[in-house]
Amino acid sequence: MPEPATPPPAAPTGEVVIRTLAMPADTNANGDIFGGWLLSQMDLGGAILARSMARSRVVTVAIDSMSFLRAVGVGDLVTCYAKLLGVGRTSMRIHVEAWTQHFAEGTLWRVTEGTFTYVAIDDAGKPQPVKR
Ligand SMILES: CC(C)(COP(=O)(O)OP(=O)(O)OC[C@H]1O[C@@H](n2cnc3c(N)ncnc32)[C@H](O)[C@@H]1OP(=O)(O)O)[C@@H](O)C(=O)NCCC(=O)NCCS
Repeated sequence: MPEPATPPPAAPTGEVVIRTLAMPADTNANGDIFGGWLLSQMDLGGAILARSMARSRVVTVAIDSMSFLRAVGVGDLVTCYAKLLGVGRTSMRIHVEAWTQHFAEGTLWRVTEGTFTYVAIDDAGKPQPVKR
């Protein structure tokens, strides 16, 4: 018998790093919210957590396992949650999830998730050890 599919998490994991509203200017040709806008919110959210961990500037070096699970509509409340997965010498892996809530309902929907890698950098833009 096939293994049952893993159910999506019932609640967000990680800490709130960004909360914003999806606006008409962020739509794609279908009238839904453009995936690139969501990705940039997630990248910003992960960077906020990475900066607070490293206590320095950071840059994004990689994005892995990105999934778009559900469309986001104009006016939806979008919240990004970030969770530190691991710290290397200069890099940090952070899992970011975006959840939405329609203004007329209370239901939370997980719409995207991905794993972002950030590198702590010095003033010259060179990698520097994460201060722990
Ligand atoms: C990120 C950057 C500073 C790394 O410089 P580099 O000389 O390649 O540095 P290193 O090879 O020493 O790698 C630094 C760390 O990044 C990790 N890394 C590098 N490339 C990676 C990749 N593709 N995926 C995951 N981790 C990566 C390394 O494993 C290393 O981690 P560690 O120190 O924890 O072991 C440089 O590549 C850069 O400036 N890239 C552009 C970043 C950017 O503009 N991002 C978009 C805007 S924020």
